[in-house]
Amino acid sequence: MKSFLLGTGNAHKAQEFKELFFQTLTINAAPRTLEVDETGSTFIENALIKAKAYFETYKVPALADDSGLVVESLPNILGVHSARFAPELPDYADKCLKLIELLNSTNKDRNAHFVCVLCFYLSPEEIYFFEGRVQGTIGNELRGTKGFGYDPIFIPERRENDGKSLAELAEWKNEFSHRAKAAQAALEFFKESVDKTRNKT
Ligand code: IMP
Repeated sequence: MKSFLLGTGNAHKAQEFKELFFQTLTINAAPRTLEVDETGSTFIENALIKAKAYFETYKVPALADDSGLVVESLPNILGVHSARFAPELPDYADKCLKLIELLNSTNKDRNAHFVCVLCFYLSPEEIYFFEGRVQGTIGNELRGTKGFGYDPIFIPERRENDGKSLAELAEWKNEFSHRAKAAQAALEFFKESVDKTRNKT
């Protein structure tokens, strides 16, 4: 089974990746979280910066993700800066409330999507990217206790249309989130490349 060092200090993401790649790729936690400056202006650039830093430090294939919430009517906040929104508020519940306030006071459209870009850095010559998205809207209150970050205010588009947030939909999130979709694309790719190698021998 292919194995990758996971470049993240975010325990919630690490747990999601463990479940997503269960029995298909081996994902090992890095011995130490690196302080990496996310200086890129796109999710792809930042995922690459992180994966490369782990590869160069530990000299083994590395996996990193960059993800964020894009509120389509507020293109200049959140997005690749999602983790740095309202830095005076360290608690995500407060960041969520601040975003709701901002949308209410400006009467902006609430359409939003989460993006996740995965970078698998096998060597400087072999780097792969996979992207996943989930579309939804920003709710009017925090709902649910599962997940992390902006999950309690993100209402994904679902057939049920029951207004549930991602923080109330842990199982659904595992299958249909931005991270799940990017991981599924990666799994498909690595499965095909293993099959091709097998067919050659
Ligand atoms: P990163 O660690 O630089 O990729 O920052 C990700 C930012 O987007 C953090 O602020 C997270 O809270 C937010 N984010 C990314 N994925 C999710 C998710 O699945 N749920 C909620 N928030 C997320």
